[in-house]
Amino acid sequence: MTQHSEHPATSPDHAGRYAGALMNTFGPPKLVLTRGEGARVWDAEGRVYLDLLGGIAVNALGHGHPALVEAVSTQLHTLGHVSNFFTTEAQISLAEKLGALFGAEHPGLDRGVKVFFTNSGTEANEAALKLTRRTGRTHLVATEGCFHGRTMGALALTSKEAYRTPFEPLPGEVTFVPYGDAEALAAAVTDQTAAIVLEPIQGEAGVVVPPAEYLAAARSVADEHGALLWFDEVQTGMGRTGAWFAHSASGVVPDVVTLAKGLGGGFPIGACLGIGAAGDLLQPGNHGTTFGGNPVACAAALAVIRTIEQDDLLEHVTVLGHKLADGLAADPRVARVDGEGLLLGIVLHSPAAPAVADAALAAGFIINPAAPGRVRLAPPLILTQEEAAGFVEAWPGILDAAGVGTGPADDPSGGGA
Ligand SMILES: Cc1ncc(COP(=O)(O)O)c(C=O)c1O
Repeated sequence: MTQHSEHPATSPDHAGRYAGALMNTFGPPKLVLTRGEGARVWDAEGRVYLDLLGGIAVNALGHGHPALVEAVSTQLHTLGHVSNFFTTEAQISLAEKLGALFGAEHPGLDRGVKVFFTNSGTEANEAALKLTRRTGRTHLVATEGCFHGRTMGALALTSKEAYRTPFEPLPGEVTFVPYGDAEALAAAVTDQTAAIVLEPIQGEAGVVVPPAEYLAAARSVADEHGALLWFDEVQTGMGRTGAWFAHSASGVVPDVVTLAKGLGGGFPIGACLGIGAAGDLLQPGNHGTTFGGNPVACAAALAVIRTIEQDDLLEHVTVLGHKLADGLAADPRVARVDGEGLLLGIVLHSPAAPAVADAALAAGFIINPAAPGRVRLAPPLILTQEEAAGFVEAWPGILDAAGVGTGPADDPSGGGA
């Protein structure tokens, strides 16, 4: 990557137009991006960046992947939208495929999977939340540091005070327990609990991985009280961790899984999967959406899944993730690298993540300071060995440019999307 002398690359014109025309929910954008190819994007000044964030774990196939472009264009030419009075081959095929992938990750599964499609992660969680209400119970248990989205129901399940406080009162009774603490979970769940909701790895918190037996403990606590177990895999799902789902390796079968982000590879789509009886909780009239299950979005997701299968990307993600993590952890200013596959959290000894992200951007790399002491990487799954090696090579210089020392590590406090 070339060194970028001037930064940020938003011209005064773009910055002013953005501020004048868009609500100020995200703060000023760092760049105006004009095009992308593979794992690279270009800004309005023609500078190139290696995209190690992938639109926050979204661009699974990178930018402009021919399979995605072809699938979306063909479907749009054929049939772009139908109402939910009707269905399409793409919608049914994608629901069947998601069920088959879930089944393949859980050999011997004796229950079917049913899907409700949405346009985003937060909507997938709204669907799941309404599904849990159909148990007749209203209490939910979620975890500190979690992120489930910004709509009112998903926000009620999100622990971060700064996101919640301006919008209270939020719906529902939610108890938050420390993430990774099975005893706290056991103490919080009662016979009135509708569901436990967990990210198998907390993404927005900066890629926080729970202890090995945590998901299994959550399953047994849920079973003990007749509660549903709901895994939010919006960020971790669809190959990001080197498996179709981040919970796959645990062998734990949840009742509900929510997906979005990488599912459509950049085309907006989310999904709420109900496993076994949970798939029958929502009945006619209980929920709906105009765009969810749109054939173009479903065709995009089918193309993403097909490409991951054909190009053996799960294996690639696993191997490359290890290499990348080992390469980055070799610098003594890195405490360790957490995560799985290509969802990595670089834990620094000091709360320098924002300065590191700025230095990386100036050096031509897009990364994310998800927490003060944690840098998140969620690159396209098609990232090449050479591209990853290029970042590892540049990494010590980025830390130098950011003035990073080996001071005390900062605990993740959550943040991001
Ligand atoms: C685990 C998780 N759930 C839900 C969401 C919300 O998804 P969306 O931004 O598509 O609404 C996110 C977004 O970062 C997420 O990481």
